[in-house]
Amino acid sequence: MVEKQITAKIVFCALDELSEAEKKLVQLAKLTTSNAYAPYSNFQVGAAVLLDNGEILTGSNQENAAFSSGICAERVVLFYANARYPDAKVLTLAIAAQNMIGFSSEPISPCGTCRQVLLEAENRYKSDIRVLLYGVDGIAIVESIKDLLPLSFDVSSMDIKD
Ligand code: THU
Repeated sequence: MVEKQITAKIVFCALDELSEAEKKLVQLAKLTTSNAYAPYSNFQVGAAVLLDNGEILTGSNQENAAFSSGICAERVVLFYANARYPDAKVLTLAIAAQNMIGFSSEPISPCGTCRQVLLEAENRYKSDIRVLLYGVDGIAIVESIKDLLPLSFDVSSMDIKD
């Protein structure tokens, strides 16, 4: 039996420590929470992406009475970015969330399905996505979605060798 340690690099910082461009992206993610359609969970998520063509796009979660038909903010903005600008890499993604009390104090982290979709985008564009997770008490930053998804499944997983 072999035990392996898988490490993930996560940087924690204050909002003030971000660059002006990244602060703006986080502020946009926060603002975009108010565009969410979340009458069932009352949990409003906003996401903003910076593309390598300079465009900034935003998205929010969209719920449905048939719960599984809803979609997270991260996938809304990522699929929109890929559909609108199929040749542009996503450089940075910022995520924020609030409920009826206010913004989450802890950094909001993407769900498993969104992590898988983000991994596909990294592989498709051969470019890591820097992710900024907003919390009132501080920001968590990962340089690549791979830090949030160890032992991941991707196209190489289907390349079974005998
Ligand atoms: N949600 C997101 O939009 N992003 C996440 O990373 C986690 C969850 C949404 C889905 C649903 O509309 C609501 O938050 C509650 O789960």
